[in-house]
Amino acid sequence: MATEKLQYVISLEVFDKSAALPPEDLKLLQEAEKAGNDAYAPYSKFKVGAAVLLDNGKIISGNNQENAAYPSGLCAERVAIFYAMAQNQSAVIRSIAISCQSHSQGPVAPCGSCRQAIAEYEQRQGKKIRIIMGVPGRKVFVILGIESLLPFMFGGKELNS
Ligand code: THU
Repeated sequence: MATEKLQYVISLEVFDKSAALPPEDLKLLQEAEKAGNDAYAPYSKFKVGAAVLLDNGKIISGNNQENAAYPSGLCAERVAIFYAMAQNQSAVIRSIAISCQSHSQGPVAPCGSCRQAIAEYEQRQGKKIRIIMGVPGRKVFVILGIESLLPFMFGGKELNS
């Protein structure tokens, strides 16, 4: 018998449409949507766009880049985050917006590897990242901090202890 049973609650903000978002989020989501149009996704045909807002005001966007050797491709979120941080080593990521076309009514959330990458930069900067997930014409979901998407995450602290 377990000695304790714990429940964890995640919190999510839901906006009926993108126009209801705070202006900063709306702009970022629009940039993500634009970037998604230029995705290279000949295999899945599933185009994803991501845009990262840094504390220096810069917005860096990316999209998924696929490969005939499937695992060699990369998701939009990591393309955008890695490029942003390669160019702006000391910047803090304020938020990331993700946009794709989907029939899903719920959030289209980052894959596990992208969650892990977001977690890494949150830990590095010591500040939560706002995650904005949108499908054009549908509800927009906003999460503050990767922990809601990746509870019990593996991080550098585990490695060093
Ligand atoms: N994809 C992303 O770009 N982001 C995600 O969070 C999930 C999946 C891409 C990877 C691949 O190119 C395509 O969507 C289908 O999985």
